[in-house]
Amino acid sequence: MNFKQMVGIEAAKYVQDDMIVGLGTGSTAYYMVEEVGRRVKEEGLKITGVTTSKATETQALELGIPLRSVDAVPYVDLTIDGADEIDENFQGIKGGGAALLFEKIVATYSKEVIWIVDQSKMVPTLGAFPLPVEVIPYGSQQIKHILTERGYQPTFRTTNDGEFLRTDSNNLILDLHLGTIAKPEQLATELTNMVGVVEHGLFLNMVNRVIVGGDSGVVTLENPKFL
Ligand code: A5P
Repeated sequence: MNFKQMVGIEAAKYVQDDMIVGLGTGSTAYYMVEEVGRRVKEEGLKITGVTTSKATETQALELGIPLRSVDAVPYVDLTIDGADEIDENFQGIKGGGAALLFEKIVATYSKEVIWIVDQSKMVPTLGAFPLPVEVIPYGSQQIKHILTERGYQPTFRTTNDGEFLRTDSNNLILDLHLGTIAKPEQLATELTNMVGVVEHGLFLNMVNRVIVGGDSGVVTLENPKFL
């Protein structure tokens, strides 16, 4: 079993009957969704899923997990999702799979959030992973120009065919090549305040628990801010 599968299965243990569960996106969340689907089918687990992307929606429907839109539930009990980087203060970068907007919306309305990662995602400081910023197409070249002037080295994310990648909301992604992010909160505010920016991949003060898979097995870390 690989590390991603180990943490996916471990995280699915936190799902209980009658929960409204946010289902994350990506290659790690994939294993969690598979395990939740298995429990629905084999154990009769009764949940409502709220998906964070079209890809996860397709997977969950194939597994027979009942789904509702985030707008059709009063709240989400628990969201389980992957992450691209997590620092020592439990701050994260997400959006490597371009699903950051729906992921942040679902996480925001969740009572509890768990991230599942392999050990390579745990870092002292955020920023080696390019920071995704979702922008609406109109005016996006202007945003790129401004971000370039600020030294953030933005690049539009493209598909294998060289086309601009479109998100589930038909927006574009600018990846910022920052190296290190010394002040995540300040950068988050700066990006949020830019006209045309829909959302950015800094997920700050959002996670209650991180489950890490590595050479020594599965380790669960509790965010002291939420204890
Ligand atoms: C999707 O947009 C992302 O936020 C993913 O959750 C993140 O990129 C982690 O993906 P992997 O589990 O595939 O590394």
